[in-house]
Amino acid sequence: MTFILRSLSFCLKQRKYVPIRHLIRISNHEIHTSTCIFHGEYEMQDPETEADIVNVTFIDKKGKKFIIKGKVGDNVLYLAHRYGIEMEGACEASLACTTCHIYVHHDYMNKLPVPEEKEEDLLDLAPFLKENSRLGCQIILTKELDGIELELPKATRNFYVDGHTPTPH
Ligand code: FES
Repeated sequence: MTFILRSLSFCLKQRKYVPIRHLIRISNHEIHTSTCIFHGEYEMQDPETEADIVNVTFIDKKGKKFIIKGKVGDNVLYLAHRYGIEMEGACEASLACTTCHIYVHHDYMNKLPVPEEKEEDLLDLAPFLKENSRLGCQIILTKELDGIELELPKATRNFYVDGHTPTPH
């Protein structure tokens, strides 16, 4: 038996929703699907061109700086994971925790989209909240953000799943 389902998927590279086709074939209790990109997989790829590069400086809890070449479309949470920076991301970017809390350098605050209400609600629960606080998993790199500085707070609180620390896929 074969089913063809059509739906939309957000393409980080094209920055828009694109139709995808999932072919699900059920045979001998196996399910096959078309190739898909897992969370964080895009961030594991290097920029293809100079024009794609977005320079990012992470500052960890001890004040150590990490200068990284990200690219347009990268999610800051998964980019941090790629380079071993301690941004937890317990809910894996599903807007259900505050463990990806970061401070955005003031020069870049106005270059980010306005946070949605859910992000603001969560930030209200974050320890060490500041006026330049954002959730890292809600920041997608654009060329305008080239040179952005992101600092991790001294601590985060994981109220989503106690003890759960996601591993990169
Ligand atoms: S990882 Fe949970 S809200 Fe960002």
